[in-house]
Amino acid sequence: MTATMPQVLRLAHPNFTRDLDATTDELHSLIDLAAEVKRNPGRYSKALNGKALALLFEKPSLRTRVTFELAIQQLGGFAIVNEGRIGVREPLKDVARNLDRWVDGIVARTYTQQTVDDLALWASVPVINALSDMWHPCQALADMQTVRERFGETRGLKLAFVGDGNNVASSLLLNATRLGMRFAIATPPGYALPAEIVAMAEGEVEITNDPVTAVRGAQVVYTDVWTSMGDEHEATRRLADFAGYQVNDELFAHAAPEAVFMHCLPAHRGEEVTDSVMESPRAVVFAEAENRLHAQKALLLALLGTERSL
Ligand code: CP
Ligand code: NVA
Repeated sequence: MTATMPQVLRLAHPNFTRDLDATTDELHSLIDLAAEVKRNPGRYSKALNGKALALLFEKPSLRTRVTFELAIQQLGGFAIVNEGRIGVREPLKDVARNLDRWVDGIVARTYTQQTVDDLALWASVPVINALSDMWHPCQALADMQTVRERFGETRGLKLAFVGDGNNVASSLLLNATRLGMRFAIATPPGYALPAEIVAMAEGEVEITNDPVTAVRGAQVVYTDVWTSMGDEHEATRRLADFAGYQVNDELFAHAAPEAVFMHCLPAHRGEEVTDSVMESPRAVVFAEAENRLHAQKALLLALLGTERSL
């Protein structure tokens, strides 16, 4: 392959239901491919060769839905969106076995990881996790692309996550440590990352209840909403429990001088982040959002792309 030829990458695992479905080598290659697709989008305009994907959304979405629909269309495929709970009107195993008669892949945003795992079990076509209660692997992929763009490499950087030990934090922990970053996380007591997820980390992890300790010297300061979709019944209690975990100018001042601010969005200004940090030149949140498009194209190519069509 020369530098002028389109890149071809094939993941060994048939699905992307969790971050670890891609090996560390494949993660590096996915980020390389995402960067290449971003530079040369026109080269991949027929890569899906008319393939159809079903996008299933049990929960709301702006970024994930728009970027998957657009990515599929820009790669020469078709996206069909279906909203609503999966497995209520009919058993999930029937939903999966209907869909795989029509489409070449399934992208699913689900309340539980079990739902996305069961779709992968019953469907014969690739299944991509577009956010579950446990993981947000497409987000982390775009975030790692964004970090590499900003700093040229990921190795040796420190990423500090402040807030809830949630799906976004879990995927970041795996991806950041696999790419040689130190991962620090500050959560209020009772909101820590599950121990079994921390145990999956492949590098240095610092766990604390103190946001300043986590942020000190970090090149990346990351936060997410305090109440994730599905946890709304706990919103009032969470608002009280997370007081003191806001990313504001004072906290950000403890980060490295070259630090950037990241957030998967949607952001709740005045809760987990101030307007001042969101609007500062250090915030790269819209670059992250843009990279959802390119990173997901890389993922779709690696799971479904046809070499002949390139
Ligand atoms: N970050 C993210 O996944 O955004 P949406 O919920 O809008 O898809
Ligand atoms: N943790 C958030 C992320 C939204 C993109 C949620 O699950 O609602």
